[in-house]
Amino acid sequence: MYENLLIEKHERIAVLTVNRPNKLNALNIATRNEILAALDALQSDAEVRVLVITGAGDKAFIAGADIGEFAGQTALSQREVMTQRRAFDAMETFPKPVIAMINGFCLGGGLELALSCDIRVASEQAKLGQPEINLGVIPGGGGTQRLTRLVGEGKAMEMILTGEMITAAEAHALGLVNHVFAHAELREKTMALAAKIAEKSPVALRMAKEAVKTAARSGLDEGLRREVDLFALCFASEDKEEGVRAFLEKRKPNFVGR
Ligand code: COA
Repeated sequence: MYENLLIEKHERIAVLTVNRPNKLNALNIATRNEILAALDALQSDAEVRVLVITGAGDKAFIAGADIGEFAGQTALSQREVMTQRRAFDAMETFPKPVIAMINGFCLGGGLELALSCDIRVASEQAKLGQPEINLGVIPGGGGTQRLTRLVGEGKAMEMILTGEMITAAEAHALGLVNHVFAHAELREKTMALAAKIAEKSPVALRMAKEAVKTAARSGLDEGLRREVDLFALCFASEDKEEGVRAFLEKRKPNFVGR
């Protein structure tokens, strides 16, 4: 169905794999458009409660934008591409939790896509970086903003100004990835994390994601008000009734997503 993506579903978890291993899964325009289409389809698929995104092959998550496509671009045509609806922003506002399963090189637009996800986990073999400076450009998919918010200005500045890659262990120390797993266990451990989240109420997950995302985008007073509204909205759901009843009846809840 897609030229450059694979989509698998395992119970309530969808795995989206960028599938251009010969190009280290570099994001050309066609792939970014396919990601947008896939996100739209997965958003309305009620069976899917958590999304995992990864790269095909053993070497790379995503090695950045497809540099080949930069060659023919003018400033205006590149701006046109980058101001259309973007995979990075769509990933960030996708109403279900998204885990980036970083299985290798995670560079440039690849790191920016991972930064747009909710949780990042990495193989111990992964290398992460914003190498755009080596091409005479800067990150343009949100890297200067999302990386800085996540790890702080000093560390983000060093990564963006040197363009050097860091190891998974270094990324973990920075809080850039939540967990580092042995390469052979990456998928199993990631799916276990996804399964834990997929058991929760999809309504509450959506509200929780929106509330947490508000933190970086608003002042504290506005964020606290938004949190109260989203908290109260959960009380309109069947899932809240079920969650509370299951607790009182000392059983596991069965959340239906309404
Ligand atoms: N865009 C287009 N093609 C890319 C690419 C990218 N971002 N990253 C890798 N590729 C291609 C290579 O050109 C090569 O293709 P070829 O076999 O047709 O020549 C193939 O993927 C394998 O990459 P290669 O460079 O041979 O692997 P390596 O193990 O020697 O090096 C990297 C791996 C990640 C260090 C290196 O590929 C690299 O620096 N890539 C660019 C990263 C980057 O700057 N990204 C930010 C873009 S803004």
